[in-house]
Amino acid sequence: MPDSLPEGDEKVTAVRGMFDAIAPRYDLVNRIMTFRLDVRWRRLAVSSLALRRGSVVLDLASGTGDLCRELESAGLAPVGIDLSYGMLAAARTTAPLVQGDALRLPVRNRTIDGVTCGFALRNLVDLEPFFAELARVLRPGARIALLEVATPPNPVMRWGHAVYFGKVVPVIGGLISDASAYRYLPRSVAYLPEPEQMRALIGDAGFVDVDRRLLSGGVAQLITATRRP
Ligand SMILES: C[S@@+](CC[C@H](N)C(=O)[O-])C[C@H]1O[C@@H](n2cnc3c(N)ncnc32)[C@H](O)[C@@H]1O
Repeated sequence: MPDSLPEGDEKVTAVRGMFDAIAPRYDLVNRIMTFRLDVRWRRLAVSSLALRRGSVVLDLASGTGDLCRELESAGLAPVGIDLSYGMLAAARTTAPLVQGDALRLPVRNRTIDGVTCGFALRNLVDLEPFFAELARVLRPGARIALLEVATPPNPVMRWGHAVYFGKVVPVIGGLISDASAYRYLPRSVAYLPEPEQMRALIGDAGFVDVDRRLLSGGVAQLITATRRP
């Protein structure tokens, strides 16, 4: 990963290469660095969809399949889509998996009941076309649940979180996996728009009931919304 934050095609290449490289140890590092809180966050994301059993859900940027497994356990019918062959190859799920770009989905208009996306918004080149693509493939009334990292609002928590993500996580990541990838993790938060801007982007793309909920003291966030009828 370059030290500067890449943009455009350079970002796509860098992000794909980074996830290909860290795929074999991705789950292990995730569980350690979040103290397994990520498992709880994914479960909450799936239940917040509130979809009927059998509903078809695209899990975008599906990675190693954690959200797909959670969706299957809830009786939903997930399809995982990810850019990185390495992550797809390391995936542990029985859901169908497709290599593809979340900004150009190989899916017909208004055919999908729900979308999940875990910890990938900051990895996308642009969020406006992403939300437009979600609005295109989702049927009216469909639900989205997007997980992302966040910055805690409490100053003490924010300080502790900055030290942990900025200093401790890169060391853990470096020992178990790839140091430059886990240095990129805290820096990539800079790609995320402010919460109100994010809410506006989602609303403007054609969603209603846009809700943002902070998780575990604000170290993560869950954004949910409904495709406008
Ligand atoms: C931090 S991982 C999250 C994986 C999984 N969602 C989870 O919750 O563990 C980010 C994932 O986004 C994928 N990704 C990045 N850009 C993408 C894009 N444009 N389209 C699809 N997947 C993308 C990466 O390959 C990687 O697997």
